[in-house]
This record gives sequence, structure tokens and C-alpha cells, in this order.
Amino acid sequence: MELKERIQNKQARIAVIGLGYVGLPLAVEFAKAGYRVTGIDLDRSKVDAVNAGRNYIMDVDSQLLRKLVQAKALAATADYASLKRCDAVHICVPTPFTATKDPDITAIVSSAEGIARHLRKGMLVVLKSTTYPETTTKVVRPILERTGLSAGRDFHLAFSPERIDPGNKQFTTATTPTVVGGLTPRCGELTRLLYSQIIEKVVMVSSPSAAEMTKLLENIFRSVNIALVNELARLCERMDNVDMWEVVDAAATKPYGFMPFYPGPGLGGHCIPIDPYYLAWKAREYDFHTDFIELAAETNEGMPYHVVNKVIAALSDAGKAASQSRVLVLGVAFKKDIDDLRSSPAIKVIELLSPKVKALAYNDPYVPAFREHGIAMKSVKLTEAAIRSHDCVLITTNHSCYDYSRIVRQAKLVVDTRNATKGIHSPKVVKIGRK
Ligand SMILES: NC(=O)c1ccc[n+]([C@@H]2O[C@H](COP(=O)([O-])OP(=O)(O)OC[C@H]3O[C@@H](n4cnc5c(N)ncnc54)[C@H](O)[C@@H]3O)[C@@H](O)[C@H]2O)c1
Repeated sequence: MELKERIQNKQARIAVIGLGYVGLPLAVEFAKAGYRVTGIDLDRSKVDAVNAGRNYIMDVDSQLLRKLVQAKALAATADYASLKRCDAVHICVPTPFTATKDPDITAIVSSAEGIARHLRKGMLVVLKSTTYPETTTKVVRPILERTGLSAGRDFHLAFSPERIDPGNKQFTTATTPTVVGGLTPRCGELTRLLYSQIIEKVVMVSSPSAAEMTKLLENIFRSVNIALVNELARLCERMDNVDMWEVVDAAATKPYGFMPFYPGPGLGGHCIPIDPYYLAWKAREYDFHTDFIELAAETNEGMPYHVVNKVIAALSDAGKAASQSRVLVLGVAFKKDIDDLRSSPAIKVIELLSPKVKALAYNDPYVPAFREHGIAMKSVKLTEAAIRSHDCVLITTNHSCYDYSRIVRQAKLVVDTRNATKGIHSPKVVKIGRK
């Protein structure tokens, strides 16, 4: 039976490589739609968790996952040999950067090599990991073609970037439009057909490289705009009576041509701090320098340092030396209401601030403990005694569950990097983005 028919009658066997924030929700979505799905991950603990019906991704419905595993619609393995029985493979592995901020696509390469060992005629391979343009055609394709099979003729190849926004209840895998670029029109069409079974809207572009560039444009757009407001926030801190948060909210009332971005302690997550560097690196191959990307990175990566200076200055204004002060950091996840710590600016702030203060503790209801950058800490309870025993409460992540009025009431000094204390007027509150 042709792949097209197998997709239409739900006979196509789906594989998802990499069962993380992107892969697990995708695997669940396909299984929910009636496909048999195999998840492949090198991390045994994830494989065991899935097979035991145990969820570990906040965006995934735990009950649904258990039901799908029990119904044998979804299973996980660390063995690429299970690809033998699969028709469509999705690569959702990490794309970090190296210590010198060059792309590290080793996981994509090893996934492609794993697929190549079991590639057969008629298979569809879709790369979903965020990466620089030409990865699909110049990295993945040659690896798969070493088998002697030809992309676009013997098997199908496409790139379709993932847009999932962890913690976003409104836009999920199913309700966020997805972009697809096939190597050939047929590759694109088969990918469109498959994704339209689980995603409401599929947007076609003319090539995998266009789809790769689309994802980078989206993330660079965010990075550049966040840098812009961070820069203006620092300007506002020197001026009288200009509060950047108020300014952004006012500008956002314009019904067209403006989209609000907010200042903060720096960029976080697996995407925005990393992806722009992928393009900057690729651009150099074309003797091209992406100045906007570098400039935005410089401003955004400077924010944790700025926050540390702000805390030290605020303590000094309150008559305390940083070296004699105790600081309580609220929120270490990279954004509110999630448990993801990756590239969290709060961790960077803790790393920079710890040696400068007498004591530093943190609370995060989503992160009971962490070990990052050689720092290991446990979340303390957010009791009145804990708040009162610190000289400064530093809000790095604006989790919705915090009672900010109580925090401001009980704290000696609050440094707010997220405007979490919006509407609470107290001389104890110091914010980034205003004097
Ligand atoms: N997290 C997000 O919000 C998000 C959003 C859009 C795009 N992306 C992109 O999607 C990709 C995946 O991100 P993620 O957040 O899901 O990462 P993740 O770290 O949560 O998950 C990746 C998984 O892949 C597994 N893995 C690594 N190498 C492997 C290999 N060779 N074979 C099989 N499994 C392997 C890891 O064990 C891990 O479980 C990245 O390129 C990322 O930039 C992420």
C-alpha cells in the first residue's frame, strides 16, 4: 500500500526520535489520532517512563498518555531497529551549541545515521529540530542517500519546524499552524497530508531550507525585539518618570504595527538564546555578518549582569553592603508556570550574584532542586520567616502562583525583573526598566 493511503487510513506506523518537550507531545498527538507510534530515545529513563505510562512533560495530558500506552498505540524504545516497521520518522533531537557558540548538530547526525540503517523505499523522514538552513539537504540527505536510496525518488524528505510553546494552554501541538518544506513537491505533499491529520493548519513553503529559515526568523524576531525593549529599559532607568513597562503596555494598545515584548533578566529556554547563533554561524559561510543577531545577543546576554548590579545598587541605597546581605531569589525556571531550567537567566544571575553576597537562597514551586553550572541548590519554603530573614527578594521568574502583595509586604526590599509586582505601589520595590 502506498504511503498516502496508509496515512489516510491510519495504517502508517509513526516513529518519533527524541521524546523531549517536542517529541513526546508529537508522539501523543499521532497516537491520539489513531496511529501506532514508536518513540525512540537514548535516555533509558524516558523510555521506561513512557512504557510505564508515566508522563514527564507538563504539556502532555498524563491520563491520555497512560491510556495510549495501555492501548498499545504508543510505545518507546532505545533501539533504532524498531524503525524497520515504521513509515514516517520525525527527528526531534536537541540542537545545542558548543562552548564557543557554534552549532552542535551531532544528535541530528546520529539520528540520521540510525535511520539510514533501516531506511527503505517509500519511507518519509521529517526533520523537526531547529537548525540552520541547508541541514536537511546538505547534512541529513547525504547520510540517508549513502544507503543507495535516492531522496525524492525512493524515500521522502522534509523539514517542518516545531513551534510548541511549553506551558501555553491556548496554542498546543494541534492548534499551532505548522510550516512544511519538502525536498520535492511530493515530499511536501505527503508531509502536509500526515500533519493535517493532527494539526489544524499546515502552511507549505517551497523547500526545506525555506522552512528552516522560517523557524530562525521567528526566533531571531523575538530575540531582536526583546533586546530592543531591554535596551530601552536600561535607558528608562536613567530618566525621571519613564517606566518601560507602562510604555510597552501603552504602545500595545495600537491595533496594528506593534507587538509587545517585555524587558527581563535575560533570555532563557532551549530556543531563543541558541537558535540565532545557528544562523550567524551559517551566514559566515556566505561572507555575511548578521549584525542584528550579534547586537541582540550582546544586549540580552548583558541583562543578568545588569540585574546583579541592580541588586547591589538597591541594597546599597537601602544602606546595606552586598557582601553582608542575604538574597532570596524567586523563580528559577526560564519563564513563568513551567519547570524548564534550560538556559534560564535566573541560574546565570545566581551564578553571578552568589559570590558577591553573604547568603543566597531560592524558591521555585516548579523546581524543588537543581544542579547547573556547578551550583547545586534546593528550593526553600516561601514562609514569612524566610522572606523576612532576607535583605532582598529578587523576582527572576513571575510564576502566577506567588502572592506578590504578601511578598512585598513581608520583604525588606524587592528587586523585580518581570513587573510581577505591577499595581503594587511600595517604595520597597525596585524594578528594571524604571528609575
Ligand atoms: N522546547 C521547546 O520549546 C522547543 C520549541 C520548538 C523547537 N524546539 C527544538 O526541538 C528540538 C528538540 O528540543 P526539545 O526541547 O524537545 O529537547 P529535549 O532535550 O527536551 O528532548 C530531546 C530528546 O532527544 C533525546 N536524544 C538526544 N539524542 C538522541 C539520539 N541520537 N537519538 C534518540 N534520542 C536522542 C534526548 O535524550 C531527549 O530526550 C530542538 O532542536 C529544539 O531547538 C524546541
